[in-house]
Amino acid sequence: MAFYEQEVGVLIPEDKLQARVKELGAQITRDYAGKELTLVCVLKGSTFFAMDLARAVDLPLTLEFLGVSSYQGGTETTGEVRITTDVSKPMAGKHLLIIEDIIDTGLTMSFLLENLRARHPASLKLCSLLEKPSRARTKIDIDYKGFVIDDLFVVGYGLDFAEKLRNVPFIGVMKGK
Ligand code: XMP
Ligand code: MG
Repeated sequence: MAFYEQEVGVLIPEDKLQARVKELGAQITRDYAGKELTLVCVLKGSTFFAMDLARAVDLPLTLEFLGVSSYQGGTETTGEVRITTDVSKPMAGKHLLIIEDIIDTGLTMSFLLENLRARHPASLKLCSLLEKPSRARTKIDIDYKGFVIDDLFVVGYGLDFAEKLRNVPFIGVMKGK
């Protein structure tokens, strides 16, 4: 029995996740054909998704990583975001595709889009595995979206509970929460 089985129930099983990642990869492959693509992976939650997605994109691409931290007011993000790890190269003139795990209130992504747009990329689009529209506080256009979910706290496939459970291989919900 896996270490998480008592604690975590399945919301989106592994085979559904992987099938959707393949579809998104094929779509991105078509859309960016002939262009030099840079995936900007948002640490740490998007990394499992981003690494699977990168392998599903049949194009030469570059990986960059960006760490952000949202200031918390109680359990809610306040919308004040800080970059904790920046990308390694200038982003000017590049075709950037941000890879995120989840858009919840949208406040983190609103900051990130504005921050990256100010660096004058050739293009800027967003790919998010999950969206929780019921919690949106600002409108974020997601160019490539994996799944829309209800207002549940989810873990696994990169998403954590107090930094743990990222290595659960599916999107899960905590039992009894
Ligand atoms: P906002 O509200 O700014 O938040 O869109 C985005 C960030 O909050 C985290 N987040 C979650 N993390 N399970 C998690 O493990 C969740 O259900 C969840 N909802 C939001 C996540 O880091 C995301 O980037
Ligand atoms: Mg995140």
